[in-house]
Amino acid sequence: MKRYSHITGWGMVVPERILTNEEITQTVDTTDEWIRTRTGVQERRIAAEDETTASLASGAALKALTMAGIKPSQVDMIIVSTSSPEHTFPSTASIVQDEIGAIKAGAFDLSAACTGFIYALDMVSHAITSGSIDIALVIGAETLSKIVNWKDRNTCILFGDGAGAFVLQALDKPGGFISSVLRSDGSGADLLTLPAGGSKLPASEQTVRDGLHYIHMQGREVFRFATRVMAKATLETVEKGGLTLDDISLIIPHQANQRIIESAAKKLKLPMDKFFVNLDKYGNTSTASIPIATCEAVEADALQPGDMIVFVGFGGGLTWGSALIQWSGPQLEVKPIRTGWYQFWAGIRSFLLKILRRIEGLLSGLGE
Ligand code: ACO
Repeated sequence: MKRYSHITGWGMVVPERILTNEEITQTVDTTDEWIRTRTGVQERRIAAEDETTASLASGAALKALTMAGIKPSQVDMIIVSTSSPEHTFPSTASIVQDEIGAIKAGAFDLSAACTGFIYALDMVSHAITSGSIDIALVIGAETLSKIVNWKDRNTCILFGDGAGAFVLQALDKPGGFISSVLRSDGSGADLLTLPAGGSKLPASEQTVRDGLHYIHMQGREVFRFATRVMAKATLETVEKGGLTLDDISLIIPHQANQRIIESAAKKLKLPMDKFFVNLDKYGNTSTASIPIATCEAVEADALQPGDMIVFVGFGGGLTWGSALIQWSGPQLEVKPIRTGWYQFWAGIRSFLLKILRRIEGLLSGLGE
């Protein structure tokens, strides 16, 4: 049986708190007009203190699983793409695995900035079509508000928090993931970076004093890079999949800046209604932007089963990439499941495992 990697479930979570441009003008020297005309962003969502990248990711994952009718215990692999992980290690994916009760899943984080979701889609799709796994969760999740310098008007106006997740599943009917293009140019690594906290510049009082634990970005250069690669990457993946732009129903780009998307549309000679845009509501949620936009495209009836679509993104690294997908739509035979139940048991299981480990430690201490 030939195996295809289909997107059979999708879900998104954004924090409730809305931060408008007007509110930002009270903390940095900017205007609503400047932000809207230079970026397209009108408002963004900001995580509450108790909301983290893992909690948003778990929420989105459970919604996607519910739609796909897949129990957490059936998932083979979880990839969380993020630039604002819970910790350097352990991975945010392992925390999600525990929170949702995906007891047999492998889990790891993937770091390719805003392009990470496309990288992750490519990785799991090849694992699925090769027969290595059957069911995977790909999650893009960020709480960038926690690593943004709210006194830096060059960056704080751009970003927002949120998570989006897809369930990918092996099916024998043609469709789903078709082709992808993944690229990197590390010579531009310094253009978009979180300088401190890694092995090159460990966190210290000095790095905190210098604000090196915040996102640093050379916006103009990133903008130029983005407008160079978006159209090219779109064309490359479409050609690799044996199609032409005429076959494409919708392009879901990384939601960084309205002008970057307009520039890609112009280069591809496509009207803007071929691009799904929702960055006005959420700002740039980095790697979460493509799955969040996909969920909203479905809600808006902009995506129909059988449609050929392209995901295209760029980000720190520098990285960029694109993926050609034949949209599968909901699987009609699937019965949604109540994932809340699984999460409840996952909490109890995790608690019991922690106690068991403690007891085991005490007993082995006594035996020595
Ligand atoms: N309000 C008012 N003025 C501002 C603001 C602001 N928020 N920010 C910058 N300015 C000023 C600058 O200081 C500059 O003033 P100057 O001419 O006196 O020096 C002027 O506006 C123009 O600045 P530019 O940087 O040239 O403005 P630009 O039109 O390029 O817009 C922006 C800046 C929005 C950051 C744009 O460059 C951009 O979107 N770049 C891409 C950023 C991006 O997408 N990053 C995320 C990548 S994905 C990831 O991996 C997370």
